[in-house]
Amino acid sequence: MTPEEQNFMRKINAEDKIEPKDWMPDAYRKNVIRQMSQHAHSEVIGMQPEGNWITRAPSLRRKAVLLSKVQDEAGHGLYLYSATETLGITRAEMIEALQQGTAKYASIFNYPTLTWGDVGAIGWLVDGAAIVNQVSLQRTSYGPYARAMIRICKEESFHQRQGYEALLALAKGSPEQKQMAQDSLNRFYWPALMMFGPHDSESAHSAKSMEWKIKRETNDDLRQKFIDQTVPQIEFLGLAHPDPAIKWNEERGHYDHGDIDWEEFYSVINGNGHCNRQRIEHHVAAHEEGAWVRDAITAYNDKKNANKIK
Ligand code: ACO
Repeated sequence: MTPEEQNFMRKINAEDKIEPKDWMPDAYRKNVIRQMSQHAHSEVIGMQPEGNWITRAPSLRRKAVLLSKVQDEAGHGLYLYSATETLGITRAEMIEALQQGTAKYASIFNYPTLTWGDVGAIGWLVDGAAIVNQVSLQRTSYGPYARAMIRICKEESFHQRQGYEALLALAKGSPEQKQMAQDSLNRFYWPALMMFGPHDSESAHSAKSMEWKIKRETNDDLRQKFIDQTVPQIEFLGLAHPDPAIKWNEERGHYDHGDIDWEEFYSVINGNGHCNRQRIEHHVAAHEEGAWVRDAITAYNDKKNANKIK
């Protein structure tokens, strides 16, 4: 090990944060860029399935809350892009990777939102799963990422509650509304479990990411936490659990569960989900429509800088 590598590992082992100007192994930098940029893309692409319901929210209150939540997701994305830029990549490069398909985003956002119940299910289950992961990432070793997570988790908690409250209203409503809530739970439960990534034994990046404390808990451990916390929430809603194999295991102190359809997971992350093409096409179109804003900012900054030189 070189002295630089030794110093880096000493910091990691001492739970010190790695900051942008610190020396870091190239593979560490690349891995953090990969995870953070994919996280940022997930926040931004995640606006689409919910944005689909802003004009059709069932009341003014629901519409205001949803609008605000979707705006928060944009903020999280921008915040994460800025934090990732501290590692020496530009936002333009990250966006190009997303649009060309070389960078991924969370698989869950390739599922369609067919009913209003899906908006509740996304807030409750998808943001709920994101929080379980992100609470753990508050202790990630890269300083700007850890600090971003602290701020983002506060807003995600509000998102999760608004989703659960929306679904609770449906679950306690008419038989048709309760059925809508059940249907949304059935469709979003399994994809939410897939958000934590493949089994640890199949996870390409986990070993190194755990050693470098980029990840603080493994995919399977985080997934189990989410499964455990979701059981009483489903019971409180009075809905049927989508997994018939769910069963408390006294010895493990956790719920046992049925098998996840990994074929579906790999198919979705490889571009063959219901909405993959639509999500990227929409992103490209919005990006192109916004070109004049970026051009105007660049022109304004050039003018300001030219004035300074005079
Ligand atoms: N959706 C899409 N791709 C995934 C998913 C998923 N749910 N899970 C794993 N993958 C991808 C990985 O990105 C990786 O692909 P790559 O090599 O092309 O980058 C590949 O599958 C192998 O998986 P892992 O080796 O397990 O990847 P990793 O160690 O990065 O773990 C995880 C995946 C848990 C998602 C991790 O990247 C992470 O914690 N990311 C930050 C949190 C995040 O992105 N959250 C988005 C949630 S939605 C939201 O925030 C609104």
